[in-house]
Amino acid sequence: MTMTSPVRRDLVDAPLLVAARGQAPARTPVWFMRQAGRSLPEYRALREGTPMLQACFTPEMVAEVTLQPVRRHGVDAAILFSDIVVPLAAAGIDLDIVPGTGPVVAQPVRDLAGVGALPELDPARLRPVADAIGILLGELGPTPLIGFAGAPFTLASYLIEGGPSRNHERTKAMMMSAPDVWHALLGRIADYTLAFLNVQIAAGVDAVQLFDSWAGALSEKDYREFVFPHSRKVLDGLAQAGVPRIHFGVGTAELLPAMREAGADVVGVDWRLPLDVAVRRLERAAPDAPKPVVQGNLDPAVLFAGWGVVEREVRRIVREGKAAAGHVFNLGHGVLPETDPTVLTRVVELVHSIP
Ligand code: CP3
Repeated sequence: MTMTSPVRRDLVDAPLLVAARGQAPARTPVWFMRQAGRSLPEYRALREGTPMLQACFTPEMVAEVTLQPVRRHGVDAAILFSDIVVPLAAAGIDLDIVPGTGPVVAQPVRDLAGVGALPELDPARLRPVADAIGILLGELGPTPLIGFAGAPFTLASYLIEGGPSRNHERTKAMMMSAPDVWHALLGRIADYTLAFLNVQIAAGVDAVQLFDSWAGALSEKDYREFVFPHSRKVLDGLAQAGVPRIHFGVGTAELLPAMREAGADVVGVDWRLPLDVAVRRLERAAPDAPKPVVQGNLDPAVLFAGWGVVEREVRRIVREGKAAAGHVFNLGHGVLPETDPTVLTRVVELVHSIP
């Protein structure tokens, strides 16, 4: 049974949604993680003087930034302009998004008292996000809108470390030495994540992506014990909504079957593993499940290598993606800020031109 939203548009034939169902779309759908952002001069101009978090709570600005890459590149999906720390900020956790650094948390969470002090999230505080989605549904035409949230592990890393971390040492130390604190924290974060996604789904997004960007730092054993139950709670909690769930992380070649099992309809793959190999791994791990659907996986750095290289790599990835029941073309991680946006537009045209 699916729970249809009174506001969600009927876009069953949109290539993104067809591919996500494992059916054959009219063309291979393509969008780019971090397509809404600093690679676009029109984004930099609009954001001038507005701090990132303030921008995320200003519906007109969220809508405009979300639309910019759709207008410019002709991508097959918009992704809501927001950030994974928006629900934490909405809950009242003292944090900022520092340009060139990323999220910085004033009081990192290190013990049970810290977990207990985390505030409840009143979904009404996310009203500006819902309002932005309302504007977008009226402006997007036939283009689906992807909502998103950070997965519990990736958000926990920011909350525990206090900011971006290369090695996640405090995070892993808590996970392994204080599992009670760990599970209490991840349970609380999963509630924030679910609330953020439910607000977006109720407002009418057409698909969601759960970003577990840093999950690749874990072994499969640790992922299954310490992360999987919490990500599954989030993804299971969305199943009734009937919108496709994309589950993505970086460096997750060893985790792909577990990430699918957590409740993904579409498995995001970074550039380290060819898509046909990823599909075989997923099939071998779950022979009775439907044939997998994948998203990915052009190395964002390839966009700097000249058009000849870009074209060769795009064609290879589209070919390898045929091994899946459905393939959503994307990068293997987000657009790098220095990327020439005209190359992104050419990638969209090329993907669409390949039969
Ligand atoms: O994909 C999109 O275009 C939608 C927007 C989006 C942003 N952040 C906008 C943003 C999405 C999906 C995110 C998710 C996000 N945020 C993730 C998961 C995805 C990933 O990249 O792995 C993570 C880890 C974050 C945390 C975060 N926020 C980082 C690491 C940074 C970069 C800091 C920097 O300045 O280098 C941010 C800030 C951020 N989020 C920007 C944008 C456009 C840059 C802020 C600015 O323009 O000033």
